[in-house]
Amino acid sequence: MSIDLSSCKKDFPIFERKVRGGNSLIYLDSGATSQKPNSVIEAESNFYRTVNAAVHRGAHLLAEEASEAYESAREKVAAFIGARSNEVIFSKSATESLNIIAYSFGNPDSRINIKAGDQIVVTEMEHHANLIPWQQLAKRTGAELRWLSVTADGRIDLTNLDQVITKKTKIVAITHQSNVLGSILPVETIVKASRAVGALVVLDACQSAPHFALDVKKLDIDFLAFSGHKTLGPTGIGVLWGKFDLLEKLEPSLFGGSMVDSVTMESATWAATPRKFEAGVPNMAQAVGLSAAIDYLNHIGMHNIAQHEQDLTSYLLKGIVGISGVKVIGPVDMKDRGGVVSFTVEGVHPHDVGQVLDQYGIAVRTGHHCAWPLMRKLNLVGTTRASLYLYNSKSDVDSLLESIEKVKSYFKVSK
Ligand code: ALA
Repeated sequence: MSIDLSSCKKDFPIFERKVRGGNSLIYLDSGATSQKPNSVIEAESNFYRTVNAAVHRGAHLLAEEASEAYESAREKVAAFIGARSNEVIFSKSATESLNIIAYSFGNPDSRINIKAGDQIVVTEMEHHANLIPWQQLAKRTGAELRWLSVTADGRIDLTNLDQVITKKTKIVAITHQSNVLGSILPVETIVKASRAVGALVVLDACQSAPHFALDVKKLDIDFLAFSGHKTLGPTGIGVLWGKFDLLEKLEPSLFGGSMVDSVTMESATWAATPRKFEAGVPNMAQAVGLSAAIDYLNHIGMHNIAQHEQDLTSYLLKGIVGISGVKVIGPVDMKDRGGVVSFTVEGVHPHDVGQVLDQYGIAVRTGHHCAWPLMRKLNLVGTTRASLYLYNSKSDVDSLLESIEKVKSYFKVSK
C-alpha cells in the first residue's frame, strides 16, 4: 500500500507554515530530527492537561493514571522492536542510552564488565554518540578501541573482520544505518563474527528504527538504542533495550530516587530491571508522546514507510547522479541503503549549498554530521545531506534537484 501523502502531510502542522520568501517548507532533514504529527503533540500536551503527576510515587489518582500511561508507553515501544517490556529503558536520548550502557560496562561491580586488555569494536561510520562513549570506556578501563573501516564506495570493509573482531573482543557497537552515507550495515555478518568470539553486540538504531521494521530477536543483538525525536516523537525521550539477563548483570550508571530497593545512610540496593536504570522522575509526557508516534507509524505501516523511502531515494539518486559537478558520498545503488543522501557540489562549500537551498524553503543538514572521523577518512570538510521520511514526496525531490542547479549557477560553477 502506498502512503496517501496529501493526507499524511496534513497530519503535520509544521507543513502549514511558510519559510523564507513565502516558500512552502520542504523538509529534508529528518536524519537530524523528524517533524511531529498532531497526535504526538496532543498526546504530550494531554498528559500535562489531564494526568500530570510523578510516576511510580504518590498515592493519588493522577499518579496512578500517569504511571499507567508511562508503563503502557514502555509496552508500546517493546512491541515496536519485538522485545519484552521489562527490557525497555527510557532515557532522555539515544546518546544517553549509549552512555548508560558504556558507563555500566565500565563499572567493575557489573557482572559483565570491560577490563584492561579487552577490545571494543566500532566502525568508522559511527556518529559521535556511538563512538565517544566507547572511546571514554576504553580510556577509563585500559581496553583497546578498534574499528572496521569504510570502503571507497561507502560500505563497511569486511575483508579483515576476523582480525578486527578477535577473542579479546567483548563489545561490538555498530550503527545500523550510516547517518552520512545511508549504507545499511551487514548486521548479520557482524553479529555472526561477534558471536563466534563471545562478544556482545550493541546496535545504534537511530537511523533505522524510525524508517523500517526491526526485531531485536531476529537481529540477534544484545543491546539497541534509538531516539524518540527522530521517530516522530518528542525530544527528551530515548530508548535503550537490552536482553533482560544482561541488564540484570549490569550496575546502573545514574543514581537517585525511583531506582532503589532500599537505602541506608551508607548504601543502597537497586530496584528491579528496568527501573534500576531510570533514576529520578522520568520524561513521562515524552514517553507518552513517543507511544503516540509509534501508533502513528503503525497506522501508516512500517513496511509502507520503508517502501516509500526506497522509492523516493531511488528517484533522488537517479536524478542527482546526472547533475555534473555533484558527487554522491555513499552508495549510488539501492542495495542495502536507506533514505539518507549526502553529496558535494564541486567548487561550493556545503554550508553555502545549504544556505542557497534554504532560500528556496529546502531544509537540509550540512557539515560533518557529528561523524568527524568519517569525514576525515573521506577527505571531506563536510557534505550536504538530504534525509527523507514518510511525509516527503517526489515533488520535494524535484525541488531539491532543481535547486541544486540554482546553487551551481549562483556560484557560477555550472559545467
Ligand atoms: N543526529 C545527527 C544527524 O543529524 C548525528 O545525523
